[in-house]
Amino acid sequence: MEIRGRTAVVTGGASGLGLAVARMLDDQGARVALLDRDPERIRASLANTSWLGFDVDVSDELATERAFNSIRDSLGPVSILVNCAGIATPGSVVRKGAPMPLDEFRRVIEVNLLGTINCIRLAVAQMVQANVSDPHDCGVIVNTASIAAFDGQVGQAAYAASKAGVAAITLPIARELGANRIRIMAIAPGVFATPMTLDLPEKSRNVVFSAAQSHAKR
Ligand SMILES: NC(=O)c1ccc[n+]([C@@H]2O[C@H](COP(=O)([O-])OP(=O)(O)OC[C@H]3O[C@@H](n4cnc5c(N)ncnc54)[C@H](O)[C@@H]3O)[C@@H](O)[C@H]2O)c1
Repeated sequence: MEIRGRTAVVTGGASGLGLAVARMLDDQGARVALLDRDPERIRASLANTSWLGFDVDVSDELATERAFNSIRDSLGPVSILVNCAGIATPGSVVRKGAPMPLDEFRRVIEVNLLGTINCIRLAVAQMVQANVSDPHDCGVIVNTASIAAFDGQVGQAAYAASKAGVAAITLPIARELGANRIRIMAIAPGVFATPMTLDLPEKSRNVVFSAAQSHAKR
């Protein structure tokens, strides 16, 4: 896709992978909008840029729709969506004999999986309505799954389930949108150092980074 002049939305764009993607898209000439729910980091990310930033929980249907409408009105219809917003709250299924609170599991699924599909549906609605001159590309969507979708570690049941869901929805949506010249794909990265992994409780951090080291040795 010719990125220059296109409107790009990056969720989780105020930190880590999302912020790096937003900078790359900006370097290539895209009009960038960030959705994140960390106002401090949003403010810091927007400094010295022409980006728009929205303090939005991507699992909030109405607030996210309002943000997408505002992006379309200010920057033009969305052509690029990169879904990076995510949380990795660790949690064992049973702790000291007590069952895991179901809300903890639910929240991870809400942010990582529902947040992803929420943004996809809103972006696609703009992509199919836009009058794009590029004969090949009306839009591109990149979802962020994780190695945990296929090889989850102890305490990652919710995270692994959410990321397996992200991986699973990508193919049927690709099949649906091919006729509209919209491409969608998912990446499944291994572990890398960002606030998400560095801020984990020590025990969980050790589990995740030592699993990454043993993968690297294989
Ligand atoms: N870091 C890793 O090792 C790793 C590995 C595989 C996949 N991933 C995935 O990569 C993506 C980016 O992670 P990262 O490592 O850059 O983490 P990060 O914590 O640096 O960035 C995630 C961003 O998402 C935002 N966010 C969280 N909940 C949100 C919500 N409800 N609505 C909007 N924004 C929200 C956070 O505020 C944060 O800015 C995530 O989806 C993560 O699951 C990370």
